[in-house]
Amino acid sequence: MKIGIMGFGVVGGGVGELVATNAESIKRRCGEEIEIARILDLRDFPDSPYKCFTKDFNDILNDPEIGVVAEVMGGTKPAYEFTKKLLLAGKSVVTSNKELVAKHGTELLKVAKENGVSYLFEASVGGGIPIIRPLYTSLSANELTDIYGILNGTTNYILTQMIKEGATFEDALKGAQEKGYAEKDPTADIEGHDTCRKIAILASLAFGTYVDSEEIPCEGITKITLEDVKYAAKFGSVVKLLGITSRAEGGVYAMVCPAILPLGHPLASIDDVFNGIMVRGDGLGDVMFYGRGAGALPTASAVLSDIVDAVKHKNSRVNLGWEQGRDGYLLDAKNLTARFYLRLTGGKAEDFSGKGYEVYTLGEGYEDEFAVVTPEVSENGLEKMLEDENGLGAYNVLSRIRLVAE
Ligand code: HSE
Repeated sequence: MKIGIMGFGVVGGGVGELVATNAESIKRRCGEEIEIARILDLRDFPDSPYKCFTKDFNDILNDPEIGVVAEVMGGTKPAYEFTKKLLLAGKSVVTSNKELVAKHGTELLKVAKENGVSYLFEASVGGGIPIIRPLYTSLSANELTDIYGILNGTTNYILTQMIKEGATFEDALKGAQEKGYAEKDPTADIEGHDTCRKIAILASLAFGTYVDSEEIPCEGITKITLEDVKYAAKFGSVVKLLGITSRAEGGVYAMVCPAILPLGHPLASIDDVFNGIMVRGDGLGDVMFYGRGAGALPTASAVLSDIVDAVKHKNSRVNLGWEQGRDGYLLDAKNLTARFYLRLTGGKAEDFSGKGYEVYTLGEGYEDEFAVVTPEVSENGLEKMLEDENGLGAYNVLSRIRLVAE
């Protein structure tokens, strides 16, 4: 079958490379050869082995022989318009574009269904890790209850560099950009938006109703310091950026935040660009998915698996989706309880002894500060405690991070 590729950046280039390298095994799995017939990109690639570049989207849209298109351009403009037109024209679309899936997935999945084609997005979450397909196939016998994920390779790489090498945030980010992990504008990585889109996709698929990523409380890692990392190490823990979602009475909880995990937690040892996703189901208990969460070939591998699936379903369609969202479905995550790490100045560590807090100090050079771990409290409750001038409100809070139990 002839396919099109829209976007020849890191992921598009990886798809081109994998199609060429694995042509034989892909043919075996699809039952037919896959030929890249058109590549859409506004840039010129004179050195590429591919000679089918175009700058005109209509060359893909109006080619009746192209049955599947990989949209790996990123962003919503013009990806949304292009994807919709392709689906309406009866072509299946596969994508790595988490922003588009998180924002317009409900509509695009509906358009795909109405036109008897597939809209597939394995590469939108977890890079090369198979996670989307397991959620609607292998795990479909389970009532899924919780998902905890390290879903962004860039931030996990940065935090690992800070924890293991004592690198500064800026140096570590530069390294992630050089390795091709980061988004074009890395704000989406470091402020947690990328993780937020991915956990929204997982929540929508796992629990069956759309969750809008823009409504999920989201905090990135820009405020995490080397001191936070050192305090966490004092109590045998590491700082990770997590996307969390849980099913509850009447709706779901979802949030993105830095979290402190004990070293024994299955996600604590997931380092560098690797992503890890822990899914909990009623029948199966916990299952872990682990692999490279970003980079050209891992992501291309997920895109290509969707291309193979779409080609195999050329006379039918791959059926996946979720219900439209509803008001009040996303519950207030501030009601969830946890223990919290607080890094404080403006008082003495001894003030907290015998009050149910764990207290930590860093020693020489850090005499002016200390950290505490609170008893279990909701975030709403903690905020009240921080306003109490006779209690925690008497201190300066330099950092505040949620703990996740083992
Ligand atoms: N910037 C993303 C990451 C790419 O670092 O995980 C993969 O979605």
